[in-house]
Amino acid sequence: MSGGERIVTPTRQDGDAAEQSPSLRPTTLDTYVGQQQLRERLGIALDAAKHRGEPMEHLLLHGPPGLGKTTLAHIVANEMGTRAWVTSGPALSKGSELVGTLTHMQHGDVLFIDEIHRLPASVEEYIYPAMEDFKIDFTLDAGMHARVVTYRLKPFTLIGATTRAGLLTAALRSRFGIGHRLDFYPTDELVTLLQAAVERLGMPMPPADALTTLAERSRGTPRICLRLLRRVRDFAIVRHDGHIDADVVHKALELEGIDARGLDPLDRAYLTTLEQTYEGGPAGLDALAATMGEDAATLEDVVEPFLLQRGLLARTRQGRQLTPQGRSWMTTKA
Ligand SMILES: Nc1ncnc2c1ncn2[C@@H]1O[C@H](COP(=O)(O)OP(=O)(O)O)[C@@H](O)[C@H]1O
Ligand SMILES: [Mg+2]
Repeated sequence: MSGGERIVTPTRQDGDAAEQSPSLRPTTLDTYVGQQQLRERLGIALDAAKHRGEPMEHLLLHGPPGLGKTTLAHIVANEMGTRAWVTSGPALSKGSELVGTLTHMQHGDVLFIDEIHRLPASVEEYIYPAMEDFKIDFTLDAGMHARVVTYRLKPFTLIGATTRAGLLTAALRSRFGIGHRLDFYPTDELVTLLQAAVERLGMPMPPADALTTLAERSRGTPRICLRLLRRVRDFAIVRHDGHIDADVVHKALELEGIDARGLDPLDRAYLTTLEQTYEGGPAGLDALAATMGEDAATLEDVVEPFLLQRGLLARTRQGRQLTPQGRSWMTTKA
């Protein structure tokens, strides 16, 4: 199962280079689709910061991959008229790397740390005084000659993103002024997102039911939605002279193994394993992962959130379990 490319994997794939192009990433809060409450909170925080002439408060974003966390970090920098410096928890293996970046940042810049739950504990120590007092203390030399040097930083905004808020230390979490959980997008918001993408790609606008079908099968995730749009566009060009309607969308997605609920082969393998090997559960995540030959963290970050949100799966103290809805899905899927 783990071999083939998973089209609805929300983590970035090579074919997604297009996603980086500024034309597809919204750069302002106004063009960022959905997440109404978050946009309102950020709008206020940004206005207040500009009013005071200070950087925006530190922001922690959590939620499954592909929902727009990285995009928001760039939007904040853009709205503040500053730069975003992008790094990730695993990339910052040493405190000195972080110090290097921090000392180069200008007033009001954004430091974006992706996968912040994977920040090494030794690096976290540098972050606390940097976040609270915009200073870092580091030790020069060792032994008898060791001395602590304090370095003043220009005030900045730290934006952390994580798929696992639960793995953050309480100490780190408490230092963010604003925390927000991003949710899966409802179909109508994904349709809006698709319309904007179609326009920016210069494609003819497909009929509404075609866009709705595409949106419904995108696991509530903008990254998947945009990727499927490109697959459908390619399919339409090769097989239907570029013409897209609901039927063409249906055929293209069938070819990709995506069913009417937007579940992909990995989602189905998960549910099938739980039903057939574990009689519907409860089963431990590690056992499930081992049976499937998949990575437990991938299942937890990428597969489970959507199945939970759709009510097909439940997490109980004893383990993962199919819900009655999940069971009936298993019997009707054929
Ligand atoms: N609310 C949104 N409005 C418009 N496009 C979005 C939105 N959220 C995500 N996208 C698009 O979806 C893709 C993935 O978003 P990204 O910010 O990289 O997600 P994450 O960092 O949460 O994994 C990008 O191409 C981005 O432009
Ligand atoms: Mg990201």
